[in-house]
Amino acid sequence: MIKPGSTRRGANSKQLNRLLTIPVSHISELVRWMLDYGGVPYREEGSVPMLHLPAFLLAGTDAKAMPVLITSEATLCTMRESLQYINARLPAELRLYPRDEKGMAETERLLALLVDKLGLATRNYGYAMLLPQKETVLSFWQQRVPNWQKWLAERAYPVLAKAMEKSLPADPGQVEPCKQQIEAIFAELDALLADGRAYLLGDGPTIADYCLAALSAPVLLPEQFGGVQPPKEALPAAYQAFVEQLRASSTGALALKMYREHRPAPTPVLDYHPTSTTPQNFVSYYLARGIALLTGATVQRWLFGLLRKHKPVLVLGKRALVTSDSDVRETLARDTEFTIAEINAPNMQRLNGPFFLGMDRSEAYSKEQGALRRVIKPGEDQLIRRIVRQHCDEMIQAALPVGRIDMVSQLTRPVARRFIRDYLGVPGPDEVTMMRWMRSLFHDLFLNLSSQRSIQITAEQSFREMGPYLLNLIAERRQRIKQGEQFEDFLSRLIKMGMDGEHDLDDDGIRRNISGLIVGALDTTSMATTLIVEQLLSKPDVLQRAKQVVDDEDKLLHLCFDVFRFNTMAAAMRRHCKNGAEVAGVKIPPGTEVFAFTASAMFDESAWPEPLSVRDDRALDRYMHFGDGMHRCFGEYINRIQIPTLVASLLRLNNLKISSGILYDGPFPDQFVLSFDR
Ligand code: HEM
Repeated sequence: MIKPGSTRRGANSKQLNRLLTIPVSHISELVRWMLDYGGVPYREEGSVPMLHLPAFLLAGTDAKAMPVLITSEATLCTMRESLQYINARLPAELRLYPRDEKGMAETERLLALLVDKLGLATRNYGYAMLLPQKETVLSFWQQRVPNWQKWLAERAYPVLAKAMEKSLPADPGQVEPCKQQIEAIFAELDALLADGRAYLLGDGPTIADYCLAALSAPVLLPEQFGGVQPPKEALPAAYQAFVEQLRASSTGALALKMYREHRPAPTPVLDYHPTSTTPQNFVSYYLARGIALLTGATVQRWLFGLLRKHKPVLVLGKRALVTSDSDVRETLARDTEFTIAEINAPNMQRLNGPFFLGMDRSEAYSKEQGALRRVIKPGEDQLIRRIVRQHCDEMIQAALPVGRIDMVSQLTRPVARRFIRDYLGVPGPDEVTMMRWMRSLFHDLFLNLSSQRSIQITAEQSFREMGPYLLNLIAERRQRIKQGEQFEDFLSRLIKMGMDGEHDLDDDGIRRNISGLIVGALDTTSMATTLIVEQLLSKPDVLQRAKQVVDDEDKLLHLCFDVFRFNTMAAAMRRHCKNGAEVAGVKIPPGTEVFAFTASAMFDESAWPEPLSVRDDRALDRYMHFGDGMHRCFGEYINRIQIPTLVASLLRLNNLKISSGILYDGPFPDQFVLSFDR
């Protein structure tokens, strides 16, 4: 049974995945390599052999575990568990285990040979040769480990070496049998490769090739090894000769090629999760959460009730708060008096260039928004549903053996990002980079109300990276379309329409617009779905009703939108009143920033019968989670499919419960671990 992970807070918000290793260990290297390959953020915590036990036992594992991977969901104690865990969560195109039965059977056969035989033989050979050489062994044992272990390793070396010799076993008598076993396995693999195949199972690398490369590292000493290893010159002559002999074989050459061509540089040591945008220490985090709790949705609802009753339009200096349903709708409808450019355009200009969410009613708005609207065709919902379902199914499948799912990092964010790749047509350089770009830009554009400079700097950096990336992507896609390739995604269709003269956006115009769409599509979806699931899980009767309609997308959508009112994502739409205006008889002076509180409007009992009940019969168009008026969310047609599909994928799990409450990265839910019966 897979043990629970650690849901403790990390430096900013959620903790980085932790990898407890022995830095010289080739088994640790294989898991480290897989994490680097998949771009999975982690922090390595190395130990000297034998001295690793306290850290490992503290993590809840037994003495045999190696290495230990600790995520928010699981503590994985063996290399195989870790590899399968990582692999199952990778985007399909990166997965390294074959999916067909024949490929899987052959992989299992090779893994048994590599993991259970080669891995032990190379390790035992190395130690049997080296343990008598204290200085050489300490030169790699003492790297990347805590100082107390360096100190103790030096003094307790004879005891540690004796214990290793016995437990592995790695006494001098092991040298010859291990050598022979390694030679036999290399000969067997040479025979496999003799038909000219490039990798063990064919034309492309699979998990078997990665295992071969990492597990033979002690006898090949590849330059790109991600842990620590002794320099070849420090080895006894016989060891050096054996390394040369193996390097000259086809199997040795394949292992070295794997390192040369497929080993990404190990991730630099990270202090906090790379997609986190809000620098916060322990105190400021809990202070901010405390304030958020005191001013959260429940308190706001009570205050809004008072305002709607006594002051539905309240002017406070240069700010006006609008809270009733009719006034909020009216404010958002009077878009020439209550404008958006003053609110959104300066930030958009600074980061992205103009985008229609920062434009008021104008020819430019109609032209750009219209061009994007025309990309959406009848039957679009089928395409969206297919993509979202596929990614939800994959992430849920990955979670099943664990019995826990961090719904933010292992469902909503990856699904939304893979949706952006498959539907909107922007893959991004890799998953973590896309998530970092999207979150930092969204944060600065829409949620950085106090213009915090550190958040601006992170967003500016993201934009400097994303702008050129998108321009390249557009040029390359255009070229491929010209060559007759067919694409079904949004970006490609937008480019194709331009080529057919259906709009006159140039490449930069396409970039500005597609970047506006993708920035609005990732953390919004993740945040909204997480808040909805939190509400459902805190209201058992509604949860029961939602489970009953889990296969009816429309009914589930109604329940999701209604329960979302209790903690909606965007509580207010901000507008600027340039010339002064009047709402419900209240004068709003020129230059006022107007907050149209949609969160309040959706509890206004004059328009929302039984506002405190969760109902499934309200008209979808009346909800204002996605704003209202001309700037109503462009992606609502997507949200109406994506949200219930994500929610349904969780509700189908048996006995779904909160395992650990939401951890936030600034305003973004960043970790929310749920448990279920396997
Ligand atoms: C659940 C997820 C989402 C939520 C809660 C959400 C929320 C909103 C809100 C509140 C607005 C109005 C802002 C205002 O009036 O000031 C808006 C506008 C917009 N949203 Fe979304 N959104 C979501 C998903 C998406 C997606 C997936 C896309 C892209 C495909 C997207 C693209 C846009 C765009 C382009 C606008 C501007 C529309 C205009 O100015 O005409 N949103 N969204």
